[in-house]
Amino acid sequence: MATMADVARSAGVSVATVSHVLNGTRPVLPHTRQAVLDAVDRLGYTPNTLARSLVTSRTRSIGLAVSAISNPYFTEILQGVEASALEHGYSLIIADPHDDPEHERKVVQLLHERRVDGLIVAPSANPRELVAYLGRHGVPAVFLDRLLDTPAEGTPAYDQVCAESAEPTARLVTHLAELGHRRIALVAGRPGLSTTRERIAGYRHGLAVSGLPDDERLLVHGNSESADAERATTALVSLAAPPTALVAANNAMTIGALRALRDRGLSVPEDMALCCFDDFAWADLFSPRLTAVAQPSREIGTQAVRVLLERLASPDRPTRTLRLPCTFVHRTSCGCPEETVRSEQPEKFEKHDKPERFGKSEKGTLS
Ligand code: HPA
Repeated sequence: MATMADVARSAGVSVATVSHVLNGTRPVLPHTRQAVLDAVDRLGYTPNTLARSLVTSRTRSIGLAVSAISNPYFTEILQGVEASALEHGYSLIIADPHDDPEHERKVVQLLHERRVDGLIVAPSANPRELVAYLGRHGVPAVFLDRLLDTPAEGTPAYDQVCAESAEPTARLVTHLAELGHRRIALVAGRPGLSTTRERIAGYRHGLAVSGLPDDERLLVHGNSESADAERATTALVSLAAPPTALVAANNAMTIGALRALRDRGLSVPEDMALCCFDDFAWADLFSPRLTAVAQPSREIGTQAVRVLLERLASPDRPTRTLRLPCTFVHRTSCGCPEETVRSEQPEKFEKHDKPERFGKSEKGTLS
């Protein structure tokens, strides 16, 4: 197998020059650069990244631990991470922690033992062991989607990237209230996740600004999954005073809610108006078309890589939380007529100025 020294000899340059050309570490004259690349081609040289890692203590790899990879929301995040990693010359090792704290700690340990330069993690609802492990071993990491609890004083221990959750959920509720609904239900996600907390806070805020009472019977738990959301929706429609409108707090729960309504012979939006958090490729194909909040999922992945690389370059910089805005995609499952919604521009949520309205959420920066 050809070595770097073989390439240098064949191109008539030093090994250092070959290294600079291949790693882009210093500018090299165009004809010298070409001579090196020709020699690489001629000899079929491939760099030995293991050997390089031994010298640099860097593997130019990122570990990504994300559960529910088959969920389109997370698949798009993954696409953003992968494309951005590749663009910066990093490879990716992916693990699925199955939203289980113990499994999560294990896969993160495996990724760390592989000596990834840093980690991107969508943490489970109970990431205590994970955080302890990362802290003990000083592993650079960025959290995405689900935020860590912010310490009473100071900033979270890790950089974080997520979408706004509270404001867009409130928007779905106020939209339904403006259409005349007085009993609006929420099918909420898995307890313990910051996204669940924030969407519940947004739901309550939307009710409050619409002058509607917060009836706890209308807040049910779909556990972020289709089957649980189906059960929760069935319970809702069986209430003595059922809701007339429903907000499903993620894409999987929207599917569950739709199943429950269909099985009961209820149609959307005539019997039940429906708005959902998460847009997805088929949301436009349902009949009626689904009114949804679209998360910037791919961008979350892209930004997570950017923040991680900045952390690797400057380990001591203060941590920060990026919150990316969502878009309100107005279709017809809310009950609005097709003619009205077709002519509208998508509505981008501005990042909110008064984040304290939603408790712990912080204003985002896209610096
Ligand atoms: N978080 C945020 N959005 C989502 C999720 C989640 O876990 N699942 C589907 N959409």
